[in-house]
Parts: sequence; C-alpha cells; structure tokens
Amino acid sequence: MATIKWAIMGTGTIAKSFAQGLDSLADAELYAVGSRYLQHAEQFGERFPAQKYYCSYEALACDPDVDVVYIATPNSAHKDNILLCLNHGKSVLCEKPFTLNRHETAEVIRVAREKNLFLMEGMWTRFFPVYRQVREWLDAEAIGPVRMVSADFGFRREGPAEDRKVGLHRGGGALMDVGVYPISFASWVFRQAPSTITGVASLYETGVDDLSAMTLLYPDGQVAVLSCSINTPTQKEARIIGNKGTIVIPEFSKAISATLAVIGEAPVTVTFPLEGNGYNYQAAAVMACLRAGKTECELMPLDESLAIMAQMDELRRQWGVVFPGER
Ligand SMILES: NC(=O)c1ccc[n+]([C@@H]2O[C@H](COP(=O)([O-])OP(=O)(O)OC[C@H]3O[C@@H](n4cnc5c(N)ncnc54)[C@H](OP(=O)(O)O)[C@@H]3O)[C@@H](O)[C@H]2O)c1
Repeated sequence: MATIKWAIMGTGTIAKSFAQGLDSLADAELYAVGSRYLQHAEQFGERFPAQKYYCSYEALACDPDVDVVYIATPNSAHKDNILLCLNHGKSVLCEKPFTLNRHETAEVIRVAREKNLFLMEGMWTRFFPVYRQVREWLDAEAIGPVRMVSADFGFRREGPAEDRKVGLHRGGGALMDVGVYPISFASWVFRQAPSTITGVASLYETGVDDLSAMTLLYPDGQVAVLSCSINTPTQKEARIIGNKGTIVIPEFSKAISATLAVIGEAPVTVTFPLEGNGYNYQAAAVMACLRAGKTECELMPLDESLAIMAQMDELRRQWGVVFPGER
C-alpha cells in the first residue's frame, strides 16, 4: 500500500474538511467520492478532485480499488453505511458519534471482527500531537493521581429547525453532536468507563437535548464533570486535576497547547501547532493501521467506542430522548 486510496461517502460539511486534511498527506489519495446524487459528488470534485464519482453509496462500496472508506453522513445513517462498506470488504473510518446507540455499535463491531476488517470511530481530536505530551504527563503522574476531569463543548447553532443537529430522525442533539467529545475525553483520561453516569438536559422543540450537564463517577472514586450544548457557546476547555496539580487544555476539541500547573511550581505550557487542518492526523493513524495489517486503532479501540455509546444511551434514557425505531 504505497499510496492509500480513500473514498469519501457523503459530501457535506465535514467531508470537505476531511478531504482538505487528506490533501496534506503525501501517501494518501482521494480516489473516489460517493453521494446520493452524482451532481453532489461532481461538485465536491471541483474542489477536491478524485478519480471516480459515484451516484450511490453502494456503487462506491463496490469499487474494488478503494482501500478505505471515510463515512461522513448523518448519525442516523452511520450503521447502515458502515455495514454496506464492511459487507463489500472495505475498511472504514466513520464519523462520530459512531452510531445512534449501543446496539448499532455492537452490530458494526461484530461484523467488522467477523470479516477481519479495519473499523474506527472518527474521534479525530485524540490524534492531535499535544495529546501525546498530555499522556506522558499523566503516565509520569506529573499532577499525581488523577482525581477529576472537567470538559465542556458548547456552541450556538445557526440554521433552520430541520438541521441535522436538531433532527430527532437524524440522531441529532447536543449529546450526539458535541457531547461525545467530553465523554470521549474523560474516557481517554481514565481509560475505563464510569460506574455511574447522571445528567440533566434541556430539550429542544424537536425532542433532542440542546444543553446538558453530566456527572460521572469512576470505580476508584474519581469524577468527571462535563457539559455540552448546541445553543450556548462555551470555552471548550478541558481540565485534568490530580492531587498535585492540574493540566489545562484550552479548546480541547482542537487542541494545540496544554499547560501543566503543579502546585508550588511555575506552570509549563507546551504548544504543538497543527500541521494541515487537523483531520489529517486521524487519517494518518488509520493508514498506519492498514499498513501494519491492524483491524483496530489502539488510540480509539472499538470496545471503548462501544462503552462511550452505552454512556450516551444511558444519558438519553434519563432525559427521555428516543430516536425513531428505538422503542
Ligand atoms: N469530526 C468533526 O469535527 C465533525 C464535525 C461536524 C460533523 N461531524 C459528523 O459528521 C457527520 C456529518 O456531519 P456534517 O456536518 O458534514 O453533515 P452535513 O453537512 O449535513 O452532510 C451530511 C452528508 O450526508 C449525506 N447524507 C446521506 N443521507 C442523508 C440524509 N438523509 N440527509 C441529509 N444528508 C444525507 C449528504 O451527502 P450526499 O448528498 O453527497 O449524499 C450530506 O451532504 C455527522 O455524523 C457529524 O456528527 C464531525
């Protein structure tokens, strides 16, 4: 696999960002674009040229020369789109949140494992270089044993009420759109699932959550305090607090810096500017896995995606947010 041939499924907002990310990788090729409409695929190609444009997702999945498919469709379509690709023998990177719920995630994982194919949730933030430094600090217990994590991800949504971000039928809501980031962050820090998760949420007129606060308790007594919103802009800051100090990551969802503040010492700030637009890092990690013959990425393992989805299911259960077909 000298150059890895990517296919992009869906031609919306994030597909364009991902294509731009691929552009900065010398060993990646945007080979094919698949859309529900040929016109969308060709319009996408005006900005991000590919060799093939397909007018159906199935036609894209059937192309024998595609090495890996990046799925950038609405949340409600992820499961079917992942299965379509896996059933045609394709490796898959699928946007977050992985699927609508735990049952769907369990199904796609089962099929990927049965077929021995690569599959990963596109939790792109984990792959930024600054997180390697944060992990080193954590492993060295630079702030002592971690006691608490706090993280928030909120923004003010612009757009019509039928927007996918608030459509119940599209798997919308703040939790699904951005809440998955702080939950995934806490999971990354603690390397385990919480024993208890509770939350409160305000609901939008469509029935999805639009502002919520969540508290998580871990088996060894640590806690996480998280929040998310699609109607309120927040700092998007993450803090990891140990009994000797704190690590602060400003804008943790697109992190380029982190500050280590140990009690009694001068704070140290490290900066790792992003190369490319940031989406290139997860793409590079996927390609490294494919070249190594791996079917999972250690930085975003499938069982962890499943555990995160189970936490989101529990929060939605508490809030009464039910997607069509879940009853
Ligand atoms: N990683 C990140 O930073 C990030 C940021 C934003 C979104 N996301 C995730 O990426 C996914 C897509 O988000 P987006 O903002 O790119 O959405 P979007 O702009 O609405 O694009 C979604 C695309 O999916 C395709 N699609 C398939 N079935 C559809 C349907 N029934 N209705 C509408 N479009 C449909 C369409 O492409 P065709 O017309 O070509 O088929 C559409 O352009 C979501 O899962 C979201 O959570 C991730």
